[in-house]
Amino acid sequence: MFARPKTLDPAEIAEMDKRHVLHPWSDLGTRHSEDPLVLAEAEGIHIRDAEGNRYIDGIGGMWCVQLGYGREELVAAMTEQARRMCYYTPFGAMANVPAARLAEALAARAPGDLNTVSFATSGSGAVDSAIRFAHFYFNCLGQPAKRQVLVRMDSYHGSTYLTASMNGKRRDWSQFDYARDLVHFLPSVNAFRRPAGQSLEAFADEKLAELEAKILELGPENVACFVAEPIQASGGVIVPPEHYLPRALAICRKYDVLYISDEVVTAFGRLGHVFASEAVFGITPDIITCAKGLTSGYVPMGATIYSDRLIEAISGENAVDHPYFTNGFTYSGHPVAAAVALKTLEILEGEGILEDVRDLGPYFQAELQKLRALPIVGDVRGMGLMACVECVVRKIGAEPGAADMAVAARVDAHAQARGLILRPFESLCILSPPLIVTKGDIDRIVAILRESLIATQDDLIAEGIWSPEPCR
Ligand SMILES: Cc1ncc(COP(=O)(O)O)c(C=O)c1O
Repeated sequence: MFARPKTLDPAEIAEMDKRHVLHPWSDLGTRHSEDPLVLAEAEGIHIRDAEGNRYIDGIGGMWCVQLGYGREELVAAMTEQARRMCYYTPFGAMANVPAARLAEALAARAPGDLNTVSFATSGSGAVDSAIRFAHFYFNCLGQPAKRQVLVRMDSYHGSTYLTASMNGKRRDWSQFDYARDLVHFLPSVNAFRRPAGQSLEAFADEKLAELEAKILELGPENVACFVAEPIQASGGVIVPPEHYLPRALAICRKYDVLYISDEVVTAFGRLGHVFASEAVFGITPDIITCAKGLTSGYVPMGATIYSDRLIEAISGENAVDHPYFTNGFTYSGHPVAAAVALKTLEILEGEGILEDVRDLGPYFQAELQKLRALPIVGDVRGMGLMACVECVVRKIGAEPGAADMAVAARVDAHAQARGLILRPFESLCILSPPLIVTKGDIDRIVAILRESLIATQDDLIAEGIWSPEPCR
């Protein structure tokens, strides 16, 4: 069980953190004044802060701790590999045993002819590699103009220069620079925000027409790829309308635009399958990117999986002027990470966790749907073990206002006080618990979320910010 080191002084750690750590997504205006929550230990689906308070981890670390905390087999896989051979360079013709085995295992589980893997150390690195490959591929084929990248609003693809330029979450666009000459945004496929009276079918038709129109506007000869999360995760667990993804793939194929399926969140069991592209959505993309759950969050690793069709078109006899694939990292295919990934796959499959998610997912979603009865809840959506409760302070149809932007943080604060951590973003309360949750855990998560939403409603009414008239 949790054993708290006696020397741990939470205030001291908080001070060190405030002074020296520059956190991702931190407001520099309040950086020195806000105390961080100092987290010290974790076990199963729970984390504990340095004061000893225990929370259900409603977000699986950050969509990644699939198997929960403290899995001894993962720790053992890590230590054994570190002892046997902690590292050797992956550059050039050097193979390490776990990375080769992992690449084979991923190829066996990826759809269609996606059989070649390049490794990265993060999801951003995996997506960045996919885009670099798309450019490299068309350059090798003598089509250097084919370089524009299509993405959708509400997407999230990472935090390297290029992937940050592909993020469609407006609030993330800050004082940084972005490679805007390369990236084009299509409208979001968030059906909840579609115009009143528009059917889902008409909405999907419209989004697909916009994709095709954008390709034609830019000229297919200038468009390299379309990058899409099967479900837009950080943007608010946006599940696309039925048949949207296969139809988007067909449009890409029509214009020789590579389809990159960003499965950094949806892979490794989150939707009950190792990969979701084909198993859930019926698409065999040209490239899949993944990370996060690949190692269950125990060590960093990302992977990009390419279709043989693409690789063969520029390799061997088809290789003109010996294309030199200069993409990769010191820690590509790190043996320790690869050993953990192999063990993660073994546990996911060997312990029936994928099947469990397929059973539990509908229960999780159905229980969350009951929250729709609360006036502050505008939409509840999701699939498998990923979900979002979208709050609405303004009426539907009105542009979200300042109160909407701050509402999820209020819900999160109430949830933390009750022992649940969720992921707040503007008006979105996002959940992606470890895949080992039980029905009882789900009941607890939903009960705390309900109480927290009600407490938030009460606060907003008391502060005169909101009146609980029906949202629709
Ligand atoms: C869909 C998607 N792609 C890419 C990334 C970037 O992954 P990382 O933070 O590991 O670089 C994320 C991270 O949340 C993601 O959700």
